[in-house]
Amino acid sequence: MTTSTVTFDFEVFDSIDQLSSDDKALLESARTVTQKAYAPYSEFLVGAVAKLVDGKILKGTNQENASYPVGICAERALLASTAMLDSNIAIQTMAIAYHNLNGDSDKPVSPCGMCRQSLHEYEERTKQPIRLILSGMSGKVYIIERAGLLLPLSFGSNNLIK
Ligand code: THU
Repeated sequence: MTTSTVTFDFEVFDSIDQLSSDDKALLESARTVTQKAYAPYSEFLVGAVAKLVDGKILKGTNQENASYPVGICAERALLASTAMLDSNIAIQTMAIAYHNLNGDSDKPVSPCGMCRQSLHEYEERTKQPIRLILSGMSGKVYIIERAGLLLPLSFGSNNLIK
């Protein structure tokens, strides 16, 4: 028997003011776009903004539904609309923020498992790491160099034998 350990490093900033001007603008935009979320059930408004490799900026928000499982997270809504621009358009950086109407919004958002899986496959499909900027409406900011770091031992297309 052997033991394996998975760790990864990420950057932690005390506030948005410590970011570069590009990253700051992207996170500000993610915070602002939370206002466009459709989240009447959870009242947890999520905004995601992508900077593509060609410099274009695209935005997404969570879209809920009275039939709860039908809802989609901001990150996957954004990935779908990005892919529709051009099937392999690569994302350089994605900023994600949330506004919790019933609680605090001062800790970095933690993308759900489905979104981690989708983000990682998007990286593989476009052969471009997606840098993540994670925050709330205030407080600390995490920067993670590539989304796949959030999904150790991931399942992917290479596991499907053709
Ligand atoms: N949600 C997102 O859109 N992204 C995340 O990273 C976490 C959760 C949404 C799903 C649901 O509409 C609401 O937040 C509460 O879970």
